[in-house]
Amino acid sequence: MNFLSVRDITKDDLIKIFDLVKEYKNKSVEVLKNKYIGLIFEKPSTRTRISFEIGIQQLRGSVVVLNTNELQISRGELIKDTASVLDRYLDGLVLRVNKHETILEFEKYFKKPIINALSDVEHPCQALSDIYTIIETKKVSLEEINKIKFVFVGDYNNVCASLMNFAQMLGMNAYFIIPKEFQPKKNLFKEITISDDINYIKGADVVYTDVWVSMGQEKETNYRLNIFRKYQLNKELMLRTKEDCSVMHCLPAKRGNEITDEVMDGKNSIVLYQAENRLHVQKGLLGYLFTR
Ligand code: CP
Ligand code: NVA
Repeated sequence: MNFLSVRDITKDDLIKIFDLVKEYKNKSVEVLKNKYIGLIFEKPSTRTRISFEIGIQQLRGSVVVLNTNELQISRGELIKDTASVLDRYLDGLVLRVNKHETILEFEKYFKKPIINALSDVEHPCQALSDIYTIIETKKVSLEEINKIKFVFVGDYNNVCASLMNFAQMLGMNAYFIIPKEFQPKKNLFKEITISDDINYIKGADVVYTDVWVSMGQEKETNYRLNIFRKYQLNKELMLRTKEDCSVMHCLPAKRGNEITDEVMDGKNSIVLYQAENRLHVQKGLLGYLFTR
């Protein structure tokens, strides 16, 4: 089983993954003993790479971390050939890629679990961990998650797409406030509210934002900053949410753009707790994928 998209798992899988997260938090397990997992990164990463590296080792697995520049792929070796060879060495792969198609090409030739550690289309590990963080922080079960008004403000990017997939799967009370120019096609997410109207932030229990310029979009910086400027999470905007509204950001943040220092460092910010949970939740995911 792979985890390339949130759509690869069901709600039942999610419940089982979260059960493992809780189990592994309280006791040390060796579910990855004698497993060798490769981490291949085409783009920079702090949280994802390190949390996977530590998590795999805590589960007693072995890890090989590679930047694509160090592989023959950088000199034109086909993914087909690379993936077929790695299939003979490794038990699993964690891939961060520029283009989602790269993961799909790996999938054709690497026959063991593959995890998407971020592509241009989705960041499923981030969203998986964020759903866990929401239910833990707000003290609700997955069944009760629709009691929480969740509001995402910003760009329809990889993180947003994965959150939308979960919002749909779980029937969340979710609102995605995105400028018209950057919204997804309506038929992709029929069951959730997508609007450019910032007023949807009113009464939010959780507000989430991410950068306006994702990795690989740097050339569009000026164009994007002009459009997104009025969607900044700042003190004034936060006055319209519930008083105990939690503030989330997947990080890295561009302080002063999508979020101000005051909000990011404020009493309602759970961004560091959110980052810590990447480690716990990915361990649950690894345990689930590798013991099936
Ligand atoms: N949130 C996240 O995936 O961070 P990194 O890019 O540092 O891995
Ligand atoms: N949307 C961001 C997320 C980084 C973790 C990006 O792709 O750069």
